[in-house]
Amino acid sequence: MEEINRDSFIRNVSFPPPEGFKQRANIKSFEEYQSLYRESIQSPETFWSKIADELHWFSPWTSVLDESDPPFYKWFLNAKTNIAYNCLDRHLEDHENKTAIMFEGELGDTCSWTYMQVFQETCKFANTLLSLGLRKGDRVAIYMPLVPEAVFAMLACARIGAVHNVIFGGFAAESIRSRILDSTAKMVITSDGGYRRGKVLHLKDIVDEAVHGCDCVEKVLVVRRSQTELLPCQMTEGRDFWYHEVSSNKSSSHEAERMDSEDLLFMLYTSGTTGKPKGIVHSTAGYMIGTYLTTKYIFDIHDEDVYWCTADIGWITGHSYVVYGPMLNRATIFIYEGAPNYPNEGRFWELIEKHKVSVFYTAPTAIRTFMRWGDDWLTRRDLSSLRLLGSVGEPINPEAWMWYHNVVGQQKCPIVDTWWQTETGAIMISPLPGVTTCKPGTATLPFFGVDPVILTEEGEETDYGWLAIRKPWPSMLRGIYGNPERFKQGYFGHWEGKYYYTSDGAMKDSEGYYYIIGRLDDIVNVSGHRISTAELEGVLIEDPVVVEAAVIGVHHEIKGQGLVGFLIIKEGSDGQSLVQRLNELVGNKIGRFSLLDKIVFVPELPKTRSGKIMRRLLRDIAEKRELGNITTLADPNVIEAIAKQFKDS
Ligand code: PRX
Repeated sequence: MEEINRDSFIRNVSFPPPEGFKQRANIKSFEEYQSLYRESIQSPETFWSKIADELHWFSPWTSVLDESDPPFYKWFLNAKTNIAYNCLDRHLEDHENKTAIMFEGELGDTCSWTYMQVFQETCKFANTLLSLGLRKGDRVAIYMPLVPEAVFAMLACARIGAVHNVIFGGFAAESIRSRILDSTAKMVITSDGGYRRGKVLHLKDIVDEAVHGCDCVEKVLVVRRSQTELLPCQMTEGRDFWYHEVSSNKSSSHEAERMDSEDLLFMLYTSGTTGKPKGIVHSTAGYMIGTYLTTKYIFDIHDEDVYWCTADIGWITGHSYVVYGPMLNRATIFIYEGAPNYPNEGRFWELIEKHKVSVFYTAPTAIRTFMRWGDDWLTRRDLSSLRLLGSVGEPINPEAWMWYHNVVGQQKCPIVDTWWQTETGAIMISPLPGVTTCKPGTATLPFFGVDPVILTEEGEETDYGWLAIRKPWPSMLRGIYGNPERFKQGYFGHWEGKYYYTSDGAMKDSEGYYYIIGRLDDIVNVSGHRISTAELEGVLIEDPVVVEAAVIGVHHEIKGQGLVGFLIIKEGSDGQSLVQRLNELVGNKIGRFSLLDKIVFVPELPKTRSGKIMRRLLRDIAEKRELGNITTLADPNVIEAIAKQFKDS
């Protein structure tokens, strides 16, 4: 790993939990955290079975953990449960009238559902899916706007045991198609459209393009976004069905499928180091327990809270902390369909004031954007309902942390900086808001059952190096769909398979707090979205004039990281029009959220003698640093030419 200036990460300020918060917190003393943590590491089976007892099981487990075939760990063996039952039915006896979901659309339309109503809607959805031929184990792609029906769809799949594969609404047709094909989805659930930044997104049209020629897809179920109007879309006879028509005569009760603990709950595609995204799979019981417990203690859920996680359901944060974790805790969830700056930059603060949000969970890139828009948008609003703030997706820089603390939290809300990954299923490193003294820029200490370690490349323990996890934990991924070897090699291929490899670099301070430095692989974290440089390069070289492409991530004030492409093109090509064409290509193949910030045409790329592109030199050029070691560079002259092109472009 490249050496860094460690002092630049550490701030000598600390913020103990506010007294008022501490008194009511679900965990109130640091000693309680330490003793539970110790138990979770030393006697994981006792610890996790006590937690599991707080949830509903149709039949109990015969043992807690099976480690006989690492890294294919199994949890809560032979037990039967259902996560949708635990999110809904379990709460009905005493809390059927508690508000489960409050929704606001971008246009200002609002509605809310009690736990009983969400239960009924989910059952109706489940019966509709069954009537269309869907069965336990079938894969279903969900491509929807962030509306309550998307939550019902996920819960309905979980209820009948179908494996959902939610695809972020920003993905373009080709990316959807590859995810549908890889998962051999039998059905796609979509919507006639959605609203974003004042525009209608025609999701069904995109799905039509995506499923064209996909033999596995038998049915497309279309939910209408608005009760008052249908957005125009083509319906293919025999394949496409309107949800409101098929569901109209369906019962609003349904007995949840008894799922085995290790039955797949969902798959979610995420970027890997190759050009092909990987379908991360999560199982039923372990994921349920992990999201339940982290939400309870890290978001410190109380009955009167209004909880808002701003993530889209197309990402893991949306799965674990918009839907499953909060509903397992019987929280009142707020969801908002649209953009933070529609109709103006004050929309989020208006929503917090109006809906009295008390727990707010968002990404550093959003926080930096709010900082840039200015404090005025906040100071004119009453944000006194807020009591806890969270951050996720990328390192939060200390300046953004301080602003979040001072301006949003008015110095009275603890901030939980939560480190985790699609693969980990649930939060792994985070403060506990009532007990952990926070410091800007650090995710602080491990959560229960998480045994992190920082290693050198050779596997020696250190305080600055590769972040690894020593023991299995319940919500860990169960594999990569259809590719057990890639799972084994990619995550357990280092250090003789003894540790889970996170791909993140980290540092530990004298108090044992973890600072996440960022990815060590060729994944770029743009606004908290994982983007594979290999996937982008694969798309760029599809253009006939592009000979070679190298994409790197560089520091970006707002997005955390931005993307720069260094391209060799055929002689005589017109650079200007090409930039536009390449952007269209990336937008159409992957999605507009992964457009490049800068494209530089270069005569050569820096390579080692064996032909490997030296991306770190490209990063040095783009971030205007002194060049690192160039002794392995095959032709040192190319650097000067690249630097000149970068400056001129
Ligand atoms: O690099 C880390 C960064 O996001 C990566 C995981 O991305 P994804 O699977 O898309 O999940 C994002 C939401 C959990 C990690 O490998 N990351 C996530 N949270 C943090 C973070 N980096 C620093 N601090 C965090 N709190």
